[in-house]
Amino acid sequence: MTHESRDAIESLFQENRLFAPPQDFGRGSRMTPELYRALLAEAESDYEGFWARLARAELEWLTPFTRTLDASGAPHYRWFDDGTLNVSANCLDRHIAERGAKPAIIFEGEPGDVRVLTYRELLAEVSRFANALRAHGVKMGDRVIIYMPMVPEAVIAMQACARIGAIHSVVFGGFSSDSLKDRITDAQAVAVITADGGHRGGRVIGLKAICDKVLGDCPSVRTVFVLRRAGNEISWQEGRDVWWHDAVAGLSDSCPPVAVGAEHPLYLLYTSGSTGRPKGIQHSSAGYLLGTILTMRWVFDIREDDVYWCTADIGWVTGHSYVAYGPLACGATILMYEGAPMIPDPGRFWRLCERHGVTIFYTAPTAIRALKKHGDDYPRAYNLDKLRLLGSVGEPINPEAWMWFYRVIGQERCPIVDTWWQTETGVHMIAPIPGLTATKPGSCTRPLPGIAADVVDAAGEPVKAPDEGGFLVIKRPWPAMLRTIWGDAERYRETYWARFENRYYVSGDSARRDADGYFWVMGRVDDVLKVSGHRLGTMEIESVLGAHPQVAEAAVVGRPDDVTGEAICAFIVPRAALADSAARSVLGSDLRRWVADKIGPIARPAEIRFASNLPKTRSGKIMRRLLRAIARHETIDEDVSTLENPDIVRELKAPPE
Ligand code: WT7
Repeated sequence: MTHESRDAIESLFQENRLFAPPQDFGRGSRMTPELYRALLAEAESDYEGFWARLARAELEWLTPFTRTLDASGAPHYRWFDDGTLNVSANCLDRHIAERGAKPAIIFEGEPGDVRVLTYRELLAEVSRFANALRAHGVKMGDRVIIYMPMVPEAVIAMQACARIGAIHSVVFGGFSSDSLKDRITDAQAVAVITADGGHRGGRVIGLKAICDKVLGDCPSVRTVFVLRRAGNEISWQEGRDVWWHDAVAGLSDSCPPVAVGAEHPLYLLYTSGSTGRPKGIQHSSAGYLLGTILTMRWVFDIREDDVYWCTADIGWVTGHSYVAYGPLACGATILMYEGAPMIPDPGRFWRLCERHGVTIFYTAPTAIRALKKHGDDYPRAYNLDKLRLLGSVGEPINPEAWMWFYRVIGQERCPIVDTWWQTETGVHMIAPIPGLTATKPGSCTRPLPGIAADVVDAAGEPVKAPDEGGFLVIKRPWPAMLRTIWGDAERYRETYWARFENRYYVSGDSARRDADGYFWVMGRVDDVLKVSGHRLGTMEIESVLGAHPQVAEAAVVGRPDDVTGEAICAFIVPRAALADSAARSVLGSDLRRWVADKIGPIARPAEIRFASNLPKTRSGKIMRRLLRAIARHETIDEDVSTLENPDIVRELKAPPE
C-alpha cells in the first residue's frame, strides 16, 4: 500500500503476554542493568562522543580518527572519516594471539561432511586467497561478485576482498542468471567468485553453469574463480576461468592487510525496492563493523565459549553482519550449514544444534513456521540443552510461532531476541537486551542505545497516543547506516530521505509503539513484499511477467501465507483470450517457471489469476489496493464507481476455477 492511499495506519493487533528475562541469564553477561542505563544516558547526552568512544574501544585503527560525524553532505553522512583500518584484520589478525587455535568456523555440508577452521587457519586461507585476487589484478576499490554456496570459502572470499580493499557484492545463490547479470553490470565487477555447484535440497545447484549463461554479456569480468565443491561437471573458458585451488597454489599464506579509509565501501548488497531495479546498498568499513560488533555484544550477548549459529545465507545482509563479519570480529565460533532445513528430514536443524553444541540460534520466522508444521517430535528427539538464546529476523514473528520457538526449542529457558533491522540499517536497530528486556511475542521491543527510532504521522510529527500507527523512522544518523545507493545518489535521497524533507531516515515500514514504549512493526508501507523473509519488489516481478510474449498486463500483490508470511499473487491479462481452464493452467505454469528463471525461485508466484483487464483509475493507474483485497478474499467496501472499469471487480472476484 502506498502511503498516499490511506490517512492513518490503523493498528488492530494486541498481544499482552509479557515474558520476564530468565533469572540467571544475565550471569556472565557483559551487559548489566547499570551498563545498559549508562549507555542509554551517554547516547542521549553526548551522541557523537558515545559513538566515538565505542569506535575507539571496539575497533583496531591503523590511523586513529579525529572527526566523528561529518554531516556536511547530508544525507550522505560520514563517520570517523579521517581514520584508517582494515576490516579483515579486525576480524582475524586481532584474535591470533589469544584465540589462534579456537574454531572460527564449524562447517557442515548438506551431505554431512564436517570441517573446522581455527582462527589461525582461517587467517591463512583468507590471506592466501587475497594474494590470489591480487595476482589476478584485483585492486583496491574493484568490485568482485561472490556467487557461492554456504561453504567456508564464501566467508573466506568476503574477508579476502576486505583484506585488499576490494568491494564485494554477494549475490544469493538462489538468484537466476539474469539477476546475476544485472548486478555484475550495475557494479561493473572485474571478477566473479563462484563454485562448480553447491548442495541444496538434496540436489546440486550448478552455480558455475548459471554464471556461464550470462558472462558473455558481462565484459567487465576478467576472471572467474571457481571453487570445486560439488564435483559436478562444468564448462570452462580458458584465460578467464581459474580453479580456486590453482589460484592459491604456491601463494603465501601471509598478506598484510591494507589500510582503507573508514568510509571506504566494504560491500554492495542489492536489494529490492518498490520501483525499478534492485539497488546496490553501499556499506562503509568502520561504522558498519562497529555496528556489527556492538550488536553481537548487546543483542546476542556473545561470549567466549558460545557456538553461535545464524542460519541466514551470506546472500542476505543477515549473512554479512551476523555470519561473515560481526561474530568473527568478536572472536566467536560460528556454525555454517550449507543446505536446506528439511534434508534429509525436518530434524536437520535440531540435529545440527545437538551435534555441534549450538548455544545461540538465530533464524527467520518463516523457518520457524515451516519447522513447527512438522510437529514437536523432531526437536524433542535431540538434546537442545546447550541453547541459551534464540533470535528471529526478517519479518514480524507471529505470536504462535514465537510461543512454539520459546516452549519447544528454547524450553522456556532461552530469551528470544526479535531483531528489527534492514539491509539499509546494516545492523540491529530495535531489539531486546536478553537478560534485561522483558519480551512480548511479536514485538521487537525497544531501540538499542544510540538509535533514535520513532513513529511519525504523515506530517512527520511523532504520533500522539500509544498504539497509534505511523511511519517507522530513524531521527539521527548512525555509524552502520547505508551510505548511498551505488551509482545513484539521487535515488538514495529520494527513497530514504525525501518523504520528510531529509529530516529522518524513512525505513519503509509502519509501526506502532505501545504504552510501555515497545515497538510493533506492522509491515511495509511500500510495494515491497516479504516472502519467506526475502524482500521482493512487486514492480520487479511485474516487469518480468510483462516481458512474457503472451502477457499484455500484469499486477502483483501479496497475500498472507501460513509459512512464507506473504505469498505472491499475480493478476495477468493475457494478450489473447484463453480458451479454457486447460489453457489457463498451461500458461499459468509457464509464467511461474518464467519468473523463477528470470529472477529466481523465491520470486515464483504462488497464485496466478487471469482476467480480461485490471481495475484502473480514470488516469490509468492500477488499483493495487483492490487487487490486494481480492487476493486476500476481503470484502470490498469502497466505492468502485470511480474506476475506469467498475465491472472488472466482479469478474476478478469470481473464484478461480
Ligand atoms: C525488512 C527488511 C533485517 C535483515 C533481514 C531482512 C522486515 C526485518 C523484522 C522484525 C518485523 C522485520 C521489515 C524490514 N523485518 N526484521 N524483527 N520484525 N519486521 O532484511 O530484506 O532488508 O528486509 O524486513 O519490513 O523493513 P531486508
